[in-house]
Amino acid sequence: MSASPRHLAIIMDGNGRWAKRRRLPRQAGHLMGASGLKRIVRACADREVEFLTIFAFSTENWRRPADEVSALMSLFIQYLTREVKEMREQGVRLRVIGNREAFDVPLQRLIEDAESATAHNTRLNLTVAANYGGQWDILNAVQSWQAANPDTPLSALAQQDLAEHLSTAGMPDPDLLIRTGGESRISNFLLWQMAYTEFYFTDTLWPDFDDKALDAALTWFGTRVRRFGKTDEQVSGAPLKTYSLGESL
Ligand code: IPE
Ligand code: IPE
Ligand code: MG
Repeated sequence: MSASPRHLAIIMDGNGRWAKRRRLPRQAGHLMGASGLKRIVRACADREVEFLTIFAFSTENWRRPADEVSALMSLFIQYLTREVKEMREQGVRLRVIGNREAFDVPLQRLIEDAESATAHNTRLNLTVAANYGGQWDILNAVQSWQAANPDTPLSALAQQDLAEHLSTAGMPDPDLLIRTGGESRISNFLLWQMAYTEFYFTDTLWPDFDDKALDAALTWFGTRVRRFGKTDEQVSGAPLKTYSLGESL
């Protein structure tokens, strides 16, 4: 099996359907999903993934019924309070990306505390995207660049400048995206950052996504040839065949 991706992004989808199949409330699916996340974090650290970015709550998920939104917020709070100890033991550095202003102040404090309590860890960079939207991230980056450079015209904004103002500044772009739950879409996740990411869609529902399922995705990733716009020959380093005029191609 080839090397793990340096940066793995995951859209953890299918909790609701997992619960529905068992005639359980959707919240039960989210609870199982949260314990699945702990397992996958450990598995990624063991597989030497450097960056793991997971989609926990999108800017569109506020449209869900109020009781589901509040159950998801409670789970987030539980995760931040209970997991910091284990993150410290495992060398996991936590970051949260997304618009925090929508969260109440105690939750904002909790996020800051969890981030600073794990800030010195270097084994795995875990980024939780909460109230995150790729469109929000891009717009926010432009505004943040403009605020930092008030006297520079917008026409001077370069791609690299924008990347440095995204919430993922300083991280490499994801190499592999896994989406569980059977949908083949990215639902406003890391839009800018996934320009050259390999996409792996699986029908497995998130609470069922175990180490074996992760390894299947990593094995698939190992078979991909990443050309970044170049030709196969350029990427493999094989000598380029040249043709003389008149020779048939
Ligand atoms: C993903 O599972 C979790 C969140 C979006 C927070 P879903 O809740 O979307 O599960 P399905 O898609 O309804 O099965
Ligand atoms: C994407 O899942 C967001 C998260 C996993 C947090 P959704 O279930 O919200 O996506 P859609 O609505 O089916 O596209
Ligand atoms: Mg869903």
